[in-house]
Amino acid sequence: MNHQDRIRRLVGMRAEARLGGGQKKIESQHEKGKYTARERIEMILDEGSFEEYDMFVTHRSHDFGLEKQQYLSDGVITGHGTIDGRIVYIFSQDFTVFGGSLSETFAQKVCKVMDQAMKVGAPLIGINDSGGARIQEGVKSLAGYAEIFQRNIMASGVIPQISAIFGPCAGGAVYSPALTDVVVMSEKTSYMFVTGPRVTKTVTGEEISNEDLGGAEIHSSRSGVAHFRAGNEEEGCLLIRKVLQYLPQNNLEDPPVIECDDPIDRLDDRLNEIIPENPHEPYDVKEIIYSLADHGEFLEFHRYWARNIVIGLARFNGIPCGIVANQPQFLAGVLDINASRKAARFVRFCDAFNLPVVTFVDVPGFLPGSAQEYGGIILHGAKLLFAYGEATVPKVTVTLRKSYGGAHDVMGSKHLRGDINYAWPTAEIAVMGPKGAIEVLEGKRIAEISDPEERQKYIAAREQEYREKFANPYEAARYGYIDDVIEPRNTRFRIIRALQTLSTKKDTNPPKKHGNIPL
Ligand code: HXC
Repeated sequence: MNHQDRIRRLVGMRAEARLGGGQKKIESQHEKGKYTARERIEMILDEGSFEEYDMFVTHRSHDFGLEKQQYLSDGVITGHGTIDGRIVYIFSQDFTVFGGSLSETFAQKVCKVMDQAMKVGAPLIGINDSGGARIQEGVKSLAGYAEIFQRNIMASGVIPQISAIFGPCAGGAVYSPALTDVVVMSEKTSYMFVTGPRVTKTVTGEEISNEDLGGAEIHSSRSGVAHFRAGNEEEGCLLIRKVLQYLPQNNLEDPPVIECDDPIDRLDDRLNEIIPENPHEPYDVKEIIYSLADHGEFLEFHRYWARNIVIGLARFNGIPCGIVANQPQFLAGVLDINASRKAARFVRFCDAFNLPVVTFVDVPGFLPGSAQEYGGIILHGAKLLFAYGEATVPKVTVTLRKSYGGAHDVMGSKHLRGDINYAWPTAEIAVMGPKGAIEVLEGKRIAEISDPEERQKYIAAREQEYREKFANPYEAARYGYIDDVIEPRNTRFRIIRALQTLSTKKDTNPPKKHGNIPL
């Protein structure tokens, strides 16, 4: 074989590898409304930036006639490229080869890019579309999964890890995405579950479809497993690019600050009127976020899950920040189990990647009731408390309206190392709301009033008295728990100045192996 033949051989092998499991399998993939592993990589990365590793890897299995079925790349495409010019590592499972199932060599390829991403300090993107462990390889596949899990765990909080689910992801395979920072699922074509419908029926008798058991809708609105639900794969890829624009390459870097032409002192008079006069009337806290953030841009995480709290990424004068905000439009913005879990994990995500946390508070308290207590609201609420308390990133809190009871302490209060705490004049910061307080303090006296009209009058007067004394920001400001009471329309400027002031903040936690967050 002369040199030209050798080059032709290389070109031929590359072409063969690019075909994965073959043209027919590619067509079948397209017929299902899915892209191939390589097409997905092209959609996510900057054009022409992908550099592939291990294209010539094949499996080493000799069981079940597998030795006669060899495909270059062995069911997963791996390598690195760039997103907006910044390096990322990527693996993309190829369903056209043995249903994207994981073999020993497949796992080694994934581990190689994970290891390199850690050494280089660059984000890792995993695209999942797989039938799980390659059944013919038995225990070697299980070992391969565990090797990946171990790397996900070590990389957690060091480099951003993002998972796209664009097809099946079942059995233990779900735990790799679950260990990553962000999970994006495509509507209709993806599903995730530990146990699929067939086994579910055998064990519990329950009959349920893939979609209803673990589709994008379920995981983005019921379980909270998926942060984003994308209408299609293109949208999913764009979302991943967008998330990374806010994040540093690793935990030792600051998030990328960009030039901002949205004036920092932009006033918004509408904010002076956004809080309704009636304390029980809801409003949309996202209107406030859109008004304050640069160019009104807010990338919301978990839009459909635990909607009583809003979380996501935005920029203030070009500085990427995490936002946490109670949402009075859902359950009056109360903290319940899911809201606590959602916000707690997000605050830790921000802290891990040096994103300042800006918190907007309008919380009537924790949701009462046996369902919440039996479900462990004590532990889940404590997670949020823990997350805020251990976070060392800049923390700026703005109390918009209600901030009652334990929920006041939790939501980025001064006492959990809140750095700069503002309140609007509409803030009500107290141990509990006027109604509850009067019931406790005056219950016996109220019961003694037999005339219903008199009783109502008495209650209203006492509630008014309480509201005037406690349902305002000045009692807290008197003790320095609130640094300043600010005019709502000027909030953007005050937040930006706070973040600029805090940009050199240094804070630490005592040396320890790790805390014992109430998981
Ligand atoms: C080997 C597999 C495979 C697997 C699919 N294939 N899954 N080969 N190991 N796990 C092959 C199929 O045999 C088929 O090959 C091709 O991939 C495409 O699969 P289809 O079934 O034709 O595709 P589709 O109808 O779209 O169904 C997809 C599927 C189904 C729902 C994922 O293939 C399926 O149920 N697979 C098995 C899932 C499973 O039980 N996996 C093991 C889970 S246990 P041909 O040659 O016919 O085209 C597990 C443990 C992990 O993963 C533990 C980690 C800790």
